[in-house]
Amino acid sequence: MHIYELPTPAVLVDLNKLENNVRRAADLARKYNKKLWPMVKTHKSLYIAKLQKEYGAEGFLCGTLDEAEALVEAGLSKNLMLGYPIVDKENLLRVIKLVENGARVILRVDSVASAELIDKTLTQHNVVVDYVVKVDVGQNRLGVKPEKIVDFVKSLSRFRSLKFVGIATHPGHAYRALNAEEVRKVAKDVALKFENVVKSLRDAGYELEFIGTGSTPTFRFDVNEPIYTHLFPGNYVYYDRIQALVFGSAELNDCALTVLATVISIPEHSEGRLAVINAGSKTLSVDRGAHGIESIKGYGHIVEHPKTTIVSLSEEIGVVDISTDPTVKVGEKVNIIPNHSCIVSNATSYLIAHRNARVMKLIKVDMRNNVKTPEIISSLQFL
Ligand SMILES: Cc1ncc(COP(=O)(O)O)c(C=O)c1O
Repeated sequence: MHIYELPTPAVLVDLNKLENNVRRAADLARKYNKKLWPMVKTHKSLYIAKLQKEYGAEGFLCGTLDEAEALVEAGLSKNLMLGYPIVDKENLLRVIKLVENGARVILRVDSVASAELIDKTLTQHNVVVDYVVKVDVGQNRLGVKPEKIVDFVKSLSRFRSLKFVGIATHPGHAYRALNAEEVRKVAKDVALKFENVVKSLRDAGYELEFIGTGSTPTFRFDVNEPIYTHLFPGNYVYYDRIQALVFGSAELNDCALTVLATVISIPEHSEGRLAVINAGSKTLSVDRGAHGIESIKGYGHIVEHPKTTIVSLSEEIGVVDISTDPTVKVGEKVNIIPNHSCIVSNATSYLIAHRNARVMKLIKVDMRNNVKTPEIISSLQFL
């Protein structure tokens, strides 16, 4: 079946591009002797995690415990790091269960108060868990400031159930960059900060197994920084319009995920200037850059009509300015490269995989939040 024979809207994945993206990043990591632990929150798909593993991923960074549990349950990995601090008892019990089942789960910690909560629960269960310090390298979200890390690690030494194994960050402020050169500068600045932190930790007698950073915009620069042992990019499996047009992480032609939509109207009032498609914010998302990028016009790139602009989105439909391209026709199907692919793939239960526009198979998005009920509420019935 050709992709244009599919009902719309549909989220498609070009398998050739997906495999190429996964392989390229893995090759690059291997070439520079970095361990690749991809962030799985991008795709939340066991199939794609398996592909990453086949190409050499040695572990995974998880955005949620649902992802961690799914990876372990599927037998895909026992090396997991959680991207964000976990402090509540109910979720810590899930971590403990994973550890008791033989997984290595590494926590990210960035405050003494949360370390205290974690340590209390772990001690009650007689479990010791490894942690890395989450470093704030400029995003000003989570994390300990670089100059405070040594004191921070020292202050955690009284927590006997937490074992220090390194430092990690997500340079999310790279997403505020307006071009590839600015991304390069962020990557360099973060690497220099890490060099200083690692030196001061080593001078204080600490050994570090993990010295890691992870983001798709900075990945191609990070591989070349000797300081890192581990890299945690996520978005690179698909890339998207922002990665291609703003950060230069890839070409538009590398973007593996598209939304297939139908032109459902060219409303008469617009006198041929506007078209309406059956994909809106619930499919494409209103994301125009995670941290306020103003340089990206519209809500996606229409592959078949690159001169047009998706100017607004309602929930289920979108409006396209076609004054630059009068060839757009009602009933036509179009592929849209979304601004931010991670959000699009999280809004669908399956992806339709194709090769050269020939539909092949479905890929489950089976690690999404709430796909499985956690054990603590699993006895509740659905109404
Ligand atoms: C903590 C953390 N690490 C890694 C990543 C991966 O970054 P990217 O999506 O740019 O590849 C993210 C993404 O948001 C993240 O939040």
